[in-house]
Amino acid sequence: MSAIAREVKRVTTHQLQEMKNRGEKISMLTAYDFSMGKIFDEAGIDILLVGDSASNVIAGHETTLPITLDQMIYHASSVIRAVRRALVVVDLPFGSYQGNSSEALRSAIRIMKESGAHSVKLEGGIEIKDSIIRILSAGVPVMGHLGLTPQSIYKFGTYAVRATEEDEANKLIEDAHFLQSLGCFAIVLEKIPSELATRVAKELTIPIIGIGAGGGVDGQVLVSHDMLGINKEFQPRFLRVYANLYDTMSGAVKNYIQDVKSNDFPNQEECY
Ligand code: KIV
Repeated sequence: MSAIAREVKRVTTHQLQEMKNRGEKISMLTAYDFSMGKIFDEAGIDILLVGDSASNVIAGHETTLPITLDQMIYHASSVIRAVRRALVVVDLPFGSYQGNSSEALRSAIRIMKESGAHSVKLEGGIEIKDSIIRILSAGVPVMGHLGLTPQSIYKFGTYAVRATEEDEANKLIEDAHFLQSLGCFAIVLEKIPSELATRVAKELTIPIIGIGAGGGVDGQVLVSHDMLGINKEFQPRFLRVYANLYDTMSGAVKNYIQDVKSNDFPNQEECY
């Protein structure tokens, strides 16, 4: 096969916009390493998010707050080495962009330069305006994130559904319009009533990606460890579990242990 025939067309922010325009839903999953990145990319996922949920599902922390910029860059560069087609978005971790816009720009540039990622995601609305403007002005595409923003968990005090009250819903609608006017290429809406998310997706021209935000938005994102059934403890209502990898992996490991203990492994064919 020639190099040209093997060339895969990369998903761009422009193509995501075209998908919204023609009503084609956008698929997005989290990935944190080379092997998972390769499987998801070759399966045809549109967007891979190197999420700060790595802090939970990879490092075992209770929240997303402890993960560092260096750790995010390590995960992102591992994913990038595997990906041929998907657009790769990387979360700016807690503490790397809220302080001031110069620091936000420095953090975004480090991610782009050191990992080779294609865009960054920031949590928040009008309160992080200066950071978003600064990052966009350097030519780095920005994805917004509103609703349940896990980096603010100690402000919320709970992971319950957000924006169920009118004031918070109005602020979310205002923030979504504001992020679009700044130039964000898409927005994630997490764990909000589906009616509200549908309204935002209808009012805005940019793609709206939901997680626990119903089916009226332009695309869906899930944490891969949750939808693959690796992490069995987290089973919110919005999650659809597509595999039971915990049991599959556990079964394989138990069989291996048994084969080692019984001297069944390695056999003649498995020796030099
Ligand atoms: O970090 C993450 O996994 C996320 C998704 C929940 C959207 O931000």
